[in-house]
Amino acid sequence: MGHEPTTPGQFLPRFLAGRRCRNVALTAIVLILLATTASMYSGLLAIDGFGLATSPQDHLAPNPKPVDHTNDQTQAGEGNGAHESVTQHPTPTPEQLTLAPTSSTPTPTPTAAAEVAYRIPPKIWQIMLPRKQKKPEDKKPSADPKILEETPSWLVLNPDYAYTLVSEKGGEEFIQRHFADEPKLLETYNALPNVGMRSDLLRYLLLNIEGGVYTDTDTEALKPIDAWVPAHIDRDKVRAIVGIEFDQRDGPGWGDISHFVQFCQWTIAAAPGHPVFRKMATRVLDSVKLLTEDKGVPLDQLKPTSFEVMNSTGPAAFTDVIFEQLQEYNSSLTDTKDLGYMEKATLFGDILVLPIDGFGMGQKHSNSTHDGTIPEDALVRHLFHGSWRGDQKA
Ligand SMILES: *[C@@H]1O[C@H](CO)[C@@H](O)[C@H](O)[C@H]1NC(C)=O
Ligand SMILES: *[C@@H]1O[C@H](CO)[C@@H](O)[C@H](O)[C@H]1NC(C)=O
Ligand SMILES: *[C@@H]1O[C@H](CO)[C@@H](O)[C@H](O)[C@H]1NC(C)=O
Repeated sequence: MGHEPTTPGQFLPRFLAGRRCRNVALTAIVLILLATTASMYSGLLAIDGFGLATSPQDHLAPNPKPVDHTNDQTQAGEGNGAHESVTQHPTPTPEQLTLAPTSSTPTPTPTAAAEVAYRIPPKIWQIMLPRKQKKPEDKKPSADPKILEETPSWLVLNPDYAYTLVSEKGGEEFIQRHFADEPKLLETYNALPNVGMRSDLLRYLLLNIEGGVYTDTDTEALKPIDAWVPAHIDRDKVRAIVGIEFDQRDGPGWGDISHFVQFCQWTIAAAPGHPVFRKMATRVLDSVKLLTEDKGVPLDQLKPTSFEVMNSTGPAAFTDVIFEQLQEYNSSLTDTKDLGYMEKATLFGDILVLPIDGFGMGQKHSNSTHDGTIPEDALVRHLFHGSWRGDQKA
């Protein structure tokens, strides 16, 4: 099965209501419609008010939309959201938009792609996976409301954003749908033995396809997402936002953090198709392959240390990939150390890097504010419940 046209309108109801058959039929109709109308629409994409409209099929999606007010007047009229820019940015290749476009996808014409407005769309993603993968017949979401204790802070500060809590079943269906022709990726995702690793890979793939803000369930929102890009930065240029989680400065190393400066991936904002997420997926596949070869065990029997998790799917791997991208944008960067002592959010190419207090306040290192106050720069508070470390002990 190849790629199907996708919008959040298809994604959500499909895995919530299981309308697979109906969708397949409707998708077929859409594909036929597309063949005849793609050229007609190709000139109109840039004015669409919704970040996902990267190809003509988004305008034609037949499925009911989920709760998603992104086209509401209130959104369109405010004019100051990170996602609201209609400024046009450099052309993505179709390959950047999905990990593996297939011939069955009605690929945007070059003209259409050139006119895609790149923005961080108004969507919030959280992931809730069980510690241990469940048997197929038993894949209901486990429902401890405490897991979502912090989520209201995200909802109340970001009205009109679409919120999706992705479960084990939804995550599998999402990956199956978008990466069906990448057996290695599917296989790896399904075999990853550690819930943290699966959650890591899933967030990169969600941001790759859908964009928006991914944030762990143990994070509290402190400022509206629309206020994340500070006034001194041209928000039209921002296509990804990452925060520093660790900055060694002149202090000691910390735990098993291997970089001088490390980015967190408990919270990430991105426009769909940003190339770092495709690179992250490749990095994950390569790293877990190396790990299994080193240890001589199949992936589903791998018992990674927390360092190995961080370096194959987690923040150390993310830091490598982000830093390489920053180096592409600015060749004077040679080591993550060059980002040390950052005081103000800094734009490198289209990636906005936040100083320690942005996403990493309240830590006892890196000159993070931890005197009980909430500094002006703080956008997110990470509560470090560390759910993924739990299954190391098990
Ligand atoms: C981290 O992972 C990368 C990619 O798999 C690997 O090349 C590197 O050796 C690892 N680093 C350490 C310290 O194990
Ligand atoms: C490149 O990065 C260095 C180190 O952070 C910085 O001093 C310089 O201003 C940057 N150059 C550009 C063009 O952004
Ligand atoms: C630490 O952070 C505070 C508040 O952000 C800042 O005023 C101070 O200059 C920083 N200290 C160092 C050594 O960077």
